[in-house]
Order: sequence, then C-alpha cells, then structure tokens
Amino acid sequence: MKNLESYVRSIPDFPEPGIIFRDVTSVLQDKDGLKMAIDSMQELIKDLDFDVIVGPESRGFIFGVPLAYNLNKAFIPVRKKGKLPCETISMDYDLEYGKATIEVHKDAIKPGQKVVIVDDLIATGGTIEAITKLVEMLGGEVVKIIFLMELKGLKGREKLSGFDVEAVIQYE
Ligand code: PRP
Ligand code: ADE
Repeated sequence: MKNLESYVRSIPDFPEPGIIFRDVTSVLQDKDGLKMAIDSMQELIKDLDFDVIVGPESRGFIFGVPLAYNLNKAFIPVRKKGKLPCETISMDYDLEYGKATIEVHKDAIKPGQKVVIVDDLIATGGTIEAITKLVEMLGGEVVKIIFLMELKGLKGREKLSGFDVEAVIQYE
C-alpha cells in the first residue's frame, strides 16, 4: 500500500503564482488514502479527554465530522461569514492568499468544554488562530489542534504557541 504522503497532489502556482497548493482531494478520492488520513488523525486524539471537535469550513468539515463520529463526540462547524442562522461571534483573519471572516454560533460551545480543533492543513496559522480566539471567547478550552498537513515554511505554529499542535504530514 502507498504511504499517505504519496496521495497528496502538489500543484505549483495555484491559486496564485508562487503558491504550491497541497491538494487534499487526491487523498479523498482514493478509498485507501481517505481511510489512512482519517485513521492517522484519529491516532493523535483517540486517548485524549475532550468534549467536542471544532472544524472550519470547508476542508475542516471533511476530517472533523468522521473523527467526531468515530470518537462519539459532537462537531461544531465554524463557517465563513453570513452562513450561520442564529446569534454568532466572528473573527477576521489573514490567509496565505487573502483575508476572510469566520463565525460560530454563540451557543455552540459551553463554558468549560474541552475542545479539539481539526483542519486539513496549516499554512500561516491565521484560520486556526482565529478559531482559538472564538473558542476562548465562548469559555471553551482548546486542548489540542490537529492537521493532516503542515506547511512548516510558513511558520503557522508560531501563531499557536502555548497550544498542543500536531500534524500527520509535514512539508518544509
Ligand atoms: C484553507 C485550509 C485551512 C486554511 C489554512 O482553507 O483548509 O483552513 O486555508 O490557511 P492558514 O493556515 O493560512 O489560515 P480556505 O480558507 O482556503 O477554505 P476552504 O477550506 O473552503 O478551501
Ligand atoms: N491553504 C492555504 N495554503 C494552502 C496551500 N498551499 N495548499 C493547500 N491549501 C492551502
């Protein structure tokens, strides 16, 4: 069987010149790649004491929901601005290419809940830094942050110092 890294397709100059895009769809579209990705992320949190998984739209949903389901936890979606119907809190942030605003429902996380944040990839760390702030504004405690892929050169971890951060695959 191939190793997990070999399922990730890398596309130079997408979506902008100078960016190497690490494409998660090539992992998902192979049943062995999909299973290996979920299983290896699950290994990182299977023995952890926590209450809920939080994941950002859209690629964080792909991994967050099966992990929550397998580990019998709830899943809290963090969405791009304007998509959630009830009362929200929001946060602006910068990305490797562009800016965005994310939101979460105010009643989604209860004070004192232990939270694991799940996403496909960390680049600059802007998305997950914003999510840690939203979780803490609601009184949650971020106990771990996991990714399938980490783009180490962008130093996203520096924005997450003080948090327990792990990634399955690292790119320099
Ligand atoms: C991508 C990726 C991460 C984020 C990483 O999502 O899925 O969430 O960027 O970048 P950062 O570490 O610099 O914040 P994107 O906002 O492109 O949305 P998508 O999942 O809907 O494609
Ligand atoms: N999101 C932010 N930067 C990315 C990259 N280089 N590849 C895939 N997704 C990304």
